[in-house]
Amino acid sequence: MAQWWLRTIRCLIVTECALAAPTVHGGEFEMTVLYDNYVSTPGTTADWGFSCLIEGMERTILFDTGADGDLLLRNAQALKKDLSKVDLVVLSHNHRDHTGGLRRVLGVNHDMSVYFGHSYPGSFAKGIAAAGATPIPVDTSIALCRNVYSTGEIRGTVNEQALVLDTDQGLVVITGCSHPGIVSMLRAAQAVMHKPIHMVYGGFHLRSHSEAQVKEIIREFRELGVEKVGPTHCTGDQAIALFKQEFGSDFLRMGVGRVVAVRDTPQMMQHE
Ligand SMILES: [Fe+2]
Ligand SMILES: [Fe+2]
Repeated sequence: MAQWWLRTIRCLIVTECALAAPTVHGGEFEMTVLYDNYVSTPGTTADWGFSCLIEGMERTILFDTGADGDLLLRNAQALKKDLSKVDLVVLSHNHRDHTGGLRRVLGVNHDMSVYFGHSYPGSFAKGIAAAGATPIPVDTSIALCRNVYSTGEIRGTVNEQALVLDTDQGLVVITGCSHPGIVSMLRAAQAVMHKPIHMVYGGFHLRSHSEAQVKEIIREFRELGVEKVGPTHCTGDQAIALFKQEFGSDFLRMGVGRVVAVRDTPQMMQHE
């Protein structure tokens, strides 16, 4: 127990230093959806949940782990992604469709840090430490590695953190379920880095919202200057259709196997 707390404190010192470091850009990074309610690439399987792999940053990051670890690994294998190379896992919130695959991921590779909300029960950290990984509870916003941040745990019906990537195109925000409200998540992202939001994707949690309410949220997206959207997972089919209608060619159809690559050049490449 004492050992993982020491490791946690060391990691927090490192990440706080990274937060103060100047932003350095370079190269290209790629995000691949590994778990989602929809399929994008044939040969993968959809299920209720979300997970995506971010490669090309300073660290290889797995954001959320889906509900079923075996399915997560099967999808990763079908997409030729090796989860033993993951350095960091970031869990958006404590719902099984986002955390369920963690145990299986740690079975593949436990030499990693797992960032999760400060409000999770203490047993959660103990389980991660018992698997040999380093548990790091997140309260306020922190840097996870160069150009990658957590918003910190945003309070809501369910507390939740989002991932914020600082790119030359603007911020890329990745959300799990957006239980505190997708607009609140975006505002929190902009509080971390005062930059325009280039893209947001993940679960927006708008299934019980009326058409008028979704349109109001889309208006707020526009007000915030969001350029591209990839609503998926728990967003709801009607809300997804409304985002598609509004954003047109800047709407990204997500699903398992979807890859989005962001480069330093002015063009964002999308691979179908
Ligand atoms: Fe959720
Ligand atoms: Fe969810």
